[in-house]
This record gives sequence, structure tokens and C-alpha cells, in this order.
Amino acid sequence: MGRRLAVPAVLMLLLISLTARLEGADRYVLKVAESERFGPILTDGEGRSLYIYTNDTVGPSGSVSNCTGACTRNWPPLLADGELKAGEGVDAGLLGTIEREDGTTQVTYNGWPLYRFARDRNPGDVRGQRLGGAFFLISPEGTPVEEERQRVVEVDPATLSALMSNGEQIFSSRCAACHGNRGQGLVGPAFAGNSALARTDYVVPMILNGFVEHGMPPWRDVLSDWEIASVATFIRNSWSNEFGPVTEEEVSAMR
Ligand code: HEC
Repeated sequence: MGRRLAVPAVLMLLLISLTARLEGADRYVLKVAESERFGPILTDGEGRSLYIYTNDTVGPSGSVSNCTGACTRNWPPLLADGELKAGEGVDAGLLGTIEREDGTTQVTYNGWPLYRFARDRNPGDVRGQRLGGAFFLISPEGTPVEEERQRVVEVDPATLSALMSNGEQIFSSRCAACHGNRGQGLVGPAFAGNSALARTDYVVPMILNGFVEHGMPPWRDVLSDWEIASVATFIRNSWSNEFGPVTEEEVSAMR
């Protein structure tokens, strides 16, 4: 009996020590991932997207994180625990650290203090991109990622016309009071000729999450993916705007 057990037990131990070693070898602070929408971006060791905050102070005499207190609930700083290890494609020379006001040590890249976004759940999530116009993904070169890859979403003419007519109804009942029935703007900004609408990755999160402090209500619990795709398509393609459709799938991926 004892002998029969001995072999599997030894094998188990071997396996455990092997996996432990493999995991150890993979414990990077920073890695590079290929984002479908944004190209190469920095991630933490587990592949979760990292962000920089444009309101941080970054300069030759050292950087200061201005995301403190409540801000860190949404944007947990990437803390250095042990050796800084750069994965493939990461420029080790750009890695650094700063001390935060609470005494913890935060990882920096090209001087930028790095954060995760609390609502990103899985590797590949980029829900924090451009939030508040202040948080951005960061490239392996150490610069904020501003451009989204040009994507051509194809929808057939029937879907496009359904999006437009549905979007027009939602717009007049839900949005026109603040944005003007001709998109001319009232309490909210004008949509006619508004180039900010060119970016799906800006428009859709804005409609989903709003900007409550500035008077823009969130619609995530009010409108479905299809309805948000419709109203986004409508405002992007009315009053001589020609920014192309937004699909239900795109909204669902950003929700
Ligand atoms: C109660 C008023 C109000 C309503 C209703 C409203 N908005 Fe807004 N919206 C605003 C305000 C105010 C802003 C500006 C927010 C800011 O300054 O960041 C805004 C900003 C936006 C922006 C960003 C525009 C830009 O130039 O940055 C989009 C897109 C938008 N709203 C879409 C919608 C859609 C779609 C609806 C309807 C489903 C809607 N809004 C309903 C008040 C409103």
C-alpha cells in the first residue's frame, strides 16, 4: 500500500515544484499586450491593462501621483512589490518607482505613475481608456495612447436604417432637451460638427457612464446595448456628421 502511494506522491511534488518554478519565471511587473483596438499597450504581470493619469505631475525632478484617496478606488496604483522585472517588449530603462503619500511604492514608466482600472476584469479589457479625458493606456515607448486603430464597422443598409430611425426616437425623447433637437446644443454640447463624436471609444462610454458632475446622466441602466448603438449612430450621422455606425456588439464590449 505504502509503496503504491509513493510514486504518485513523488510525481505530485515534482509537478508542484515545476509549476511553482514556471510561475516564478513569469512574474513580471510589466508586459506588453496587443490590444485589438489600440495596438501594443503595457499591462501588469497578469496581462491587465495599465493606465496613466494626465493630471499627475511628471517631470525631471521626479513624479507625483495626484490620484489619491477616493480616486484610488477606481484606479488602484500599480505597487512595486520586490524586483521590477520587464517582460518582452518592455523598455527596462523606462521603469522606475515613486513613493506615494501613504508611503507605498508605485511603479512608473517613462516617469508616468501606473494604475489599473477597477472595472477592467480580464486581460484585454480597456474600459478605463480616455475616462474623464484624463486616463489613458500607455504604449511600450512610454507615451499615452491617444489613437484608436481605424476600424471600419460594416453594417448592412437595413441595419443602418433601423439604427438611425430607432436612434432618432431615443434622441428626441431622451437627449434633445439638453443637446438641442437639431443637435445645436443647449445645456449639453452641440453634436452638429462635433469631432469628439468621431471616436466610438469616447461616445459609447460617455453615454453608458455619463459625466454626472458635469450634468450628463448615465444611461447604462436605462438603455439597452441596441438602444445605445442606435442613439450613438444617430448623433454620429445626423446634421451633416458622417462618423459611421456603432454596432450593438461594440456597445456590449464596452459596457
Ligand atoms: C440633463 C441633460 C442631458 C441629457 C438628458 C443628456 N445629456 Fe449628454 N451631455 C450633457 C452635458 C452637460 C454634457 C457635457 C459633459 C461634460 O462637460 O463633460 C454632455 C455630454 C455628452 C456627450 C459628449 C459630447 C462632447 O462633446 O464631449 C455625448 C456623446 C452625450 N452627452 C450624449 C448624450 C446622449 C446620447 C443622450 C441621450 C441618451 C444625452 N447625452 C442626454 C447633458 C445631457
